[in-house]
Order: sequence, then C-alpha cells, then structure tokens
Amino acid sequence: MNGNSPAPFLFLRESELGSRPNCRAPVRFTSRPLPHRGPCEARFGEAKCGKHQEREMTVHIGAKPGDIAETVLMPGDPYRAKWAAETFLEGAELVNEVRGMLGFTGTWRGNRVTIQGSGMGMPSLSIYANELMTEYGAQTLIRIGSCGGMQSHVGIRDVIIAMTASTITSPSSGIFRELNYAPCADWGLLRAAVQAAEKLEAKTHVGGIYSSDVFYAERPDLDEQMVRHGILGVEMEAAELYTLAARHKRRALAVLTVSDHLQTGEALPSEDREKSFGDMVEIALEAAFA
Ligand code: HPA
Repeated sequence: MNGNSPAPFLFLRESELGSRPNCRAPVRFTSRPLPHRGPCEARFGEAKCGKHQEREMTVHIGAKPGDIAETVLMPGDPYRAKWAAETFLEGAELVNEVRGMLGFTGTWRGNRVTIQGSGMGMPSLSIYANELMTEYGAQTLIRIGSCGGMQSHVGIRDVIIAMTASTITSPSSGIFRELNYAPCADWGLLRAAVQAAEKLEAKTHVGGIYSSDVFYAERPDLDEQMVRHGILGVEMEAAELYTLAARHKRRALAVLTVSDHLQTGEALPSEDREKSFGDMVEIALEAAFA
C-alpha cells in the first residue's frame, strides 16, 4: 500500500468498540452480518457458503423463506398489489411491507400466487425482481401495470402484451456496453396471455413497448422514433424484468393497460380503472397457469 492509499475499513463488532481508543483508521462497525450482494447459489433459508449467512429476510423483502410463490405478479403500485390480491386471490396474506412495498401471497384456482409491488422505474423493479428470483426462487414473473399509448390505433383501456421492450438505458446497460441487447418476453407466457385475452374479448395489442427511464421526458425525439418504429406504448419497468429473467433463466411477461395517451392527451378516468385493470390481472393469471 503506498502512502496515499486510504486506510482500510475495519469491521468491528459492537463489543469491540472502545478497545482501540488511539486508532485513527476510519472505522465502520456492524453487529449484523453484512447483506450479501451478487449471485449466491444457495437460497436464503438454506445452508450458505461462508460469505452468505443465515437471514430471516432479504435486504428489501421481509417475507420468510417459503412465503413467496413461484409465480409472482408485479404491479408498480403497492396499493394495486393489495387491490389485486383482495380481488383475485383466496386466503391472501401480507408477506412484505418493508418500505411500504406491499406483497401478498394467496391462491388463484388452487395455484399459489404472490402479488408484489415493484415500485416505479427499472432501478426499483430490479431490486425486487433480483431478490425474488435469486433468493426466493420465483420462476414466473409477470408485470401488471399501466402504460401510455403511442399509436393512434391503441386506445385508452386497451391491453398491451409486450413482446419486446426497447430502452435507451436500464440497470443492465452497464454489462452490455456497446451491445444493443433486445429484451423479449417468454414465448409460452406471451402465447397463453394472447389466448386468455381473446377468451376475455379484451381489446388487445401485441408488440413492442418502450421502457423509458423517465416519466417527465425532455427528449420528445425519442418518443417520435418509438412511434415511427411501431412501438405500442411507454412504461418504465418491463425491459429490466425481461433482461433479469433471461439472465436467471426464468419466465417473464408484461401485460399492460393503456391509462393515458401520448398523442391524444386522453387519460383513463379513475372510476374506470378497476374494471380495466381487472382484465389485465385476469390475463396474467390465466397465462401463468395455462
Ligand atoms: N410514460 C411512462 N410511463 C407511463 C406512462 C407514460 O406516459 N403512462 C403510464 N406509465
């Protein structure tokens, strides 16, 4: 170590504090195991390597091992998670409320399902989706959320089933560098969702969407290019969900309801939201268990 290097951090337990009164090294202390970051083969609740210690929860999800189902629906809004769980699931129980990001587990037609809020935007979704996949073993993850319509033939209340999700940047951009990776949905889930939408006679569009990293966009030219290339709608989460699912070999899909329209300026009246969002949840559940 040369003279300019900072002194190394020391990790001391609380009981060790005070035992080094003259030490001037910067000191961080912890009485808890540090949360692990990065992939771990063992799920929490199972035996760990030395780096990964036994915990009762993950960093951002308070559910215990086994509380989360293999099938997870992910609305952005935690209160929509509550509404969907109360409306569609039997025996729904609250399994997470860390930071108010509500999650519920119950059954739908006898199948276990978790409905867990993701928060808004890809960085937030990435935290929850990573923990659901790598720590709780979630296998099928379906985003249910709203989007802004981008084409004139796409109307308010219509359902969009997202085949691909384009981005300008996402939490995964750093690993792809100069590559333009194309995040895409799981084909089996997509096909089952289209069939469910047809059965429900919901007005549905299937195609590409745009996962933006801003709601208040300062670059109208980006939206223009998306419209020009046939992109159906804009939201803020699906591309990272699809990328993480590919990385961890899970199934992912986004089923969206058009809540506002970028070209017409129309917006879904709040009293219409439940019925419109209901179709989307039903399509997602039918697809997950087809
Ligand atoms: N932009 C981004 N995300 C959205 C929109 C929008 O217009 N509407 C619903 N989600």
